Amino acid sequence: MREILEQLESRRAAARLGGGQTRIDTQHAKGKLTARERLDVLLDEGSFEEYDMYVTHRATDFGMAETKVPGDGVVTGWGTINGRLVYVFSQDFTVLGGSLSETHAQKICKIMDMAARNGAPVIGLNDSGGARIQEGVASLAGYAEVFRRNAEVSGVVPQISVIMGPCAGGAVYSPAMTDFIFMVRDSSYMFVTGPDVVKTVTNEIVTAEDLGGAKTHTTKSSVADGAFDNDIEALLKVRDLFDFLPLNNREQAPVRPFFDDPDRLEARLDSLIPDSANKPYDMRELILAIADEGEFHEIAQAFAGNILTGFIRLEGQTVGVVANQPMVLAGCLDIDASRKAAKFVRFCDAFNIPLLTLVDVPGFLPGTSQEYGGIIKHGAKLLFAYSQATVPMVTLITRKAYGGAYDVMASKHIGADVNYAWPTAEIAVMGAKGATEILYRSELKDPEKIAARTKEYEDRFANPFVAAERGFIDEVIWPHSSRKRLARAFAMLRSKKQDSHWRKHDTMPL
Ligand code: HXC
Repeated sequence: MREILEQLESRRAAARLGGGQTRIDTQHAKGKLTARERLDVLLDEGSFEEYDMYVTHRATDFGMAETKVPGDGVVTGWGTINGRLVYVFSQDFTVLGGSLSETHAQKICKIMDMAARNGAPVIGLNDSGGARIQEGVASLAGYAEVFRRNAEVSGVVPQISVIMGPCAGGAVYSPAMTDFIFMVRDSSYMFVTGPDVVKTVTNEIVTAEDLGGAKTHTTKSSVADGAFDNDIEALLKVRDLFDFLPLNNREQAPVRPFFDDPDRLEARLDSLIPDSANKPYDMRELILAIADEGEFHEIAQAFAGNILTGFIRLEGQTVGVVANQPMVLAGCLDIDASRKAAKFVRFCDAFNIPLLTLVDVPGFLPGTSQEYGGIIKHGAKLLFAYSQATVPMVTLITRKAYGGAYDVMASKHIGADVNYAWPTAEIAVMGAKGATEILYRSELKDPEKIAARTKEYEDRFANPFVAAERGFIDEVIWPHSSRKRLARAFAMLRSKKQDSHWRKHDTMPL
């Protein structure tokens, strides 16, 4: 018996060593943790249960029969984050560059299937040279099995990807189908074709970092939702995010203990809106003033700054926030902002997370680049996402809500449950100047007349009461009471249930 147990321990030790100490040292020298060290940071201490640590690949071509490493380049299993179940896989770059073989893929698929059956999120830590070159189509088939599962469990359990090394070629499409992608600065990259291929095909000379590093994907392409300085920071932030999310689409997000009075009044909000309509202010101040303990977990902060998305808690409950940001492009909706917000709204709706929308939007951004880029279709994504959402939705208009953007930003008409406005709200088809220039074109040469017309339009529409008179705004509230009023609205909506018509699926504008 003792011998057998010793054999078990020595097999375990061999698997834990992955590609060997030299390769572990190389990994450390690059400032990266190993696959197992990463799981230690991500999961609660002692909670990790590993599966399939003795699995080896079955390839024999290209000398592969002699390079069997137990675990085959990926560590899989389950554990907990603050006591809640999560399934994980962590690719081990020390074993054949973390490349994905048929059996490596089978290990990932196994835990994805368990996650779907048992209703818990999947977190994938990616650090891989892509498809195992020696296996050919078997490894491509393995990727496809993972891709199919990514699509199958989308909207069933949350899926989070952390890119902590290379992620190239078709391999990028698994993270791309998950709900959130986070990257580590200077040590991770994602691209469909690397710098060498780019040079051959297009003559462009570009570094891997510029082509697919964290900065590129969080600021330009919007592929990634956040970038962090090192492995530890990235993993700790994922733990934070995890706490905001439900385990699956049939559960509610966890309610955290809170030590912040829901009735807290914020006098500073009464002077947040500047005297001039053209002056910006920071919408983040409002979000922080509303949130429990002033905590805002922002998603995609570095992309499309004209709209803010992220999670707060109200009375300990997770709330998804979408907010126009007047500090950037005056808070206009453009292609990037529409896509960013639409994706966020879809995620929240899929996972029973109530939505708070804070509105200060002068309209859609005009211009040829927007029209040629398809603002019509991209703006429709946000409209579609809100129109389809059935989670509790509360909207607060702080200042401008003009034109189509008024409709899009969770207006009563597309399904918001409670619509509030501050007394500073202006709800109209367009700004007073633009409106009078169209309505009174013949009087344009007479500045006095036009000024009087503009004033008349402003007096009529630059307020929330026309909408309130029709019941489109449920109440005009004091800014300082926003936290209290919003917390009460969400509390009232906690039992909301809304069914949709039966259909196979929608045909949302893509
Ligand atoms: C097999 C691989 C591998 C791969 C790396 N290795 N990638 N083995 N298949 N895809 C092995 C290397 O041979 C090496 O083994 C060890 O991993 C570490 O790799 P290095 O090159 O020494 O590391 P580094 O210098 O850090 O470079 C990492 C890298 C490079 C940039 C990822 O290895 C690389 O370019 N790999 C190939 C990438 C690639 O083209 N993959 C296919 C993409 S297409 P030894 O024994 O020497 O330590 C794809 C299709 C997916 O993935 C399709 C889905 C539909």
